[in-house]
Amino acid sequence: MLAWELQQYGMQNLRRVERPIPAPGADEVRIRVAAAALNARDLQIIANQYDPNQRLPIVLASDGAGEVDALGANVTRFKFGDRVAPIFAQRWIAGDRSWQRWASHVGGHYDGMLQEYCVLPADGLCRVPAYLTDLEAAASCVAAATAWQALVEQGRVFAGQTVLIQGTGGVSMFALQFAKLHGARVIATSSCDEKLERARQLGAADTINYRRSQNWGEAVLKATDGEGVDHIVDVVGDLERSVACLRPGGLISLIGYMGQIALDSGGAPNYEYRASSLTTLLRNVRTQGITTAPRESYERMFRAMAANEVHPVIGEVFSFDDVPRALEALRRGSAMGKICVSISGKLMP
Ligand SMILES: NC(=O)c1ccc[n+]([C@@H]2O[C@H](COP(=O)([O-])OP(=O)(O)OC[C@H]3O[C@@H](n4cnc5c(N)ncnc54)[C@H](OP(=O)(O)O)[C@@H]3O)[C@@H](O)[C@H]2O)c1
Repeated sequence: MLAWELQQYGMQNLRRVERPIPAPGADEVRIRVAAAALNARDLQIIANQYDPNQRLPIVLASDGAGEVDALGANVTRFKFGDRVAPIFAQRWIAGDRSWQRWASHVGGHYDGMLQEYCVLPADGLCRVPAYLTDLEAAASCVAAATAWQALVEQGRVFAGQTVLIQGTGGVSMFALQFAKLHGARVIATSSCDEKLERARQLGAADTINYRRSQNWGEAVLKATDGEGVDHIVDVVGDLERSVACLRPGGLISLIGYMGQIALDSGGAPNYEYRASSLTTLLRNVRTQGITTAPRESYERMFRAMAANEVHPVIGEVFSFDDVPRALEALRRGSAMGKICVSISGKLMP
């Protein structure tokens, strides 16, 4: 079978290789992968900006979907032909995260989905809702579960609240759709007017171009009559500005750090958050760190998505031959929502 292997750090060390088709162990399932999707973390791993103890070579991509193709002797959760998608941390099934549960990432500790067959623990898989195509299911893994965990499982969003999403990447496009699903009003930012127009079509009430309005926090305050928003799905890491446009008692989900690192700089991530403690105090700010979600959250999310026919925003689909181009598109940030890779050959979502 074919697999894309990161052999050493650096994009030039991503190679398409022939590997033997892996056999599942007693508690594992082999998936014939139909589609994969990329995340910002794939670029961070390539640039050695993720886990200093990352083993190499590794097959990247935490997101994917396909059919069960072989089962280990102890597996009862699935049968041959079931459509499945992996959760991110394979050992985090329910409850709170622990370090032991956490150290089981697909596309990190386990080889990921940029290969024709993938073997994973049966417990680390979810059944894919029938209404989603393989590409859509692949697009609805890490980013979707992260947005769901932030807004719904931990954030308890409710109708009438105002939610700020930042940029139009994978996490933010799911956050927009999940916030709307719960009756919230969404304010969206982006560097690109065309993407903001699409965000409005998806239900964003107000949009702000953060390139043109460098002080987007003030624009957010203006859009809320000076009150501030109830919840910020923060993928940027500019905590100072987020705090400044939060209503008193509001919630910030700390998710990403797009504004903190230059992915091609080769340097270590800079996690310096400079929010003034006085402003944080005066606004009674609540923050919650989000690190994807346990399987039980993925399952509730898929049920909600199916009940409401939520389709992921897919910016671009690349063929399996074009994985380096797909990663380059992710690095440029040219697409909106998810970038997918078709392994079965289907190029339409
Ligand atoms: N904690 C977790 O569990 C978790 C899970 C998933 C992702 N993450 C993190 O969350 C972040 C976003 O992930 P993703 O997969 O959604 O990324 P993505 O799909 O690559 O989207 C990135 C988008 O962020 C926007 N952006 C970039 N720099 C920005 C800035 N300075 N200000 C505002 N927006 C900016 C851009 O939107 P426009 O093109 O519209 O400007 C860009 O397209 C990353 O840092 C990732 O590592 C964390």
